[in-house]
Amino acid sequence: MTTYENLAPLEPTDAARRFTDPQTWGTFGAQWNSGEQKTLVCCAVYPETHDVKTFVFRCADFSALSFEAGQFITLSPVIAGQPIARCYTVSSSPTRPFAFAITVKRVPGGLVSNWLHDRLQPGDCLRASGPAGSFTPVGIPAKKWLYLSAGSGVTPLMSMTRTAFDMASDLDIVFVHSARTPTDIIFHDELQGMQARMAGLRVLHVCESPGTTVDWQHPIGRLDLPLLSQHVPDFREREVFTCGPQGYMEAVKSLLKDARFDFAHYHQESFDITVLNAEPVIEQAPSLDQASLFTVTLSRSGKTFTMTGTQTVLSAAKKAGAIVPSSCSQGVCGTCKTALLEGTVDMNHNGGIRQREIDKGLRLLCCSKPTSDLVIDL
Ligand SMILES: Cc1cc2nc3c(=O)[nH]c(=O)nc-3n(C[C@H](O)[C@H](O)[C@H](O)COP(=O)(O)OP(=O)(O)OC[C@H]3O[C@@H](n4cnc5c(N)ncnc54)[C@H](O)[C@@H]3O)c2cc1C
Ligand code: FES
Repeated sequence: MTTYENLAPLEPTDAARRFTDPQTWGTFGAQWNSGEQKTLVCCAVYPETHDVKTFVFRCADFSALSFEAGQFITLSPVIAGQPIARCYTVSSSPTRPFAFAITVKRVPGGLVSNWLHDRLQPGDCLRASGPAGSFTPVGIPAKKWLYLSAGSGVTPLMSMTRTAFDMASDLDIVFVHSARTPTDIIFHDELQGMQARMAGLRVLHVCESPGTTVDWQHPIGRLDLPLLSQHVPDFREREVFTCGPQGYMEAVKSLLKDARFDFAHYHQESFDITVLNAEPVIEQAPSLDQASLFTVTLSRSGKTFTMTGTQTVLSAAKKAGAIVPSSCSQGVCGTCKTALLEGTVDMNHNGGIRQREIDKGLRLLCCSKPTSDLVIDL
């Protein structure tokens, strides 16, 4: 077994014995909650397509992952001596909280996705922080749903579908997934299997081309308004959840706009790394306030640096040599959530922090610019 970051070897504990003894399954107490860090043990790795793999984990202390379908965890593998954080949606269902899965597409040149595909083996351990994200159906009273996904954007919608299936739900779900070719479709067989057993689930796959598949029965092309209207004529009555590359989501939004869809019933999440991994660049001339220099003190290390109000606290702290966990740099993932002990910032987030966390003094450093001197809990 490989352990990363010198993690302590796992000792058989009471929890471990309970986990392996079917007599006591379901009697666990500990939970892995939002914002907490845990050591995860990889239990299984299996291929989904030629460039997508599923990784199954459990908590090393046998905690149950407490999450809502559609949420993600942030993995922090140590690669070449550096901890690197990346978000991955939990593709399994919250109805199965002890062994949970992420499903990862290999990104050409990408650090973490390739490391996971090439290096992570069953028995390996890595650190991760607890579930986050607001792309979840919890609390929405709809009966009719439309899930629209492309590529690896299928993962949150798969978690929602698996949950509905496991709960024997009577929801009416249409799941339209777009892929390049039939061999690129993730979860094809499982979705077909669930559709055969769940009256309210209808699955439609749309491929840009049939590739090498000779007997492809589903639509060919890209999702557009005529195709959606033909296959899901009542789409205007549905709660829409969509996830995929930026271009796909722009196309979905534009077709729904053309159809005069009510966007109060529209929810989206982007994984788009080209957009998400870019540090925000501020081009405009700074106002007088922004041009002033602010002093930032890191309370734990005692480090101090100065920055202007045009930079994000994250980028300035990194330039000053501070180690700050971060992933999306766009206020989505919550990885850079840190307590602001003194001072004020202008924070422009994209759902990565909840109001109750803001009320407690937490801020996302990647999308916060100072408006005074700051003391932060780092
Ligand atoms: C909320 C959320 C949920 C997500 N869920 C999932 C999920 O369920 N499944 C999934 O597969 N992904 C998911 N992602 C995306 C995931 O977090 C990563 O962004 C993705 O795996 C790529 O990370 P990486 O480290 O492999 O790529 P990075 O190293 O971050 O590379 C990003 C880009 O830079 C390019 N690049 C990297 N190195 C170089 C170089 N030296 N020269 C030139 N270009 C380079 C890469 O080609 C790539 O285009 C999610 C993202 C978010 C924000
Ligand atoms: S790094 Fe993702 S919210 Fe800041």
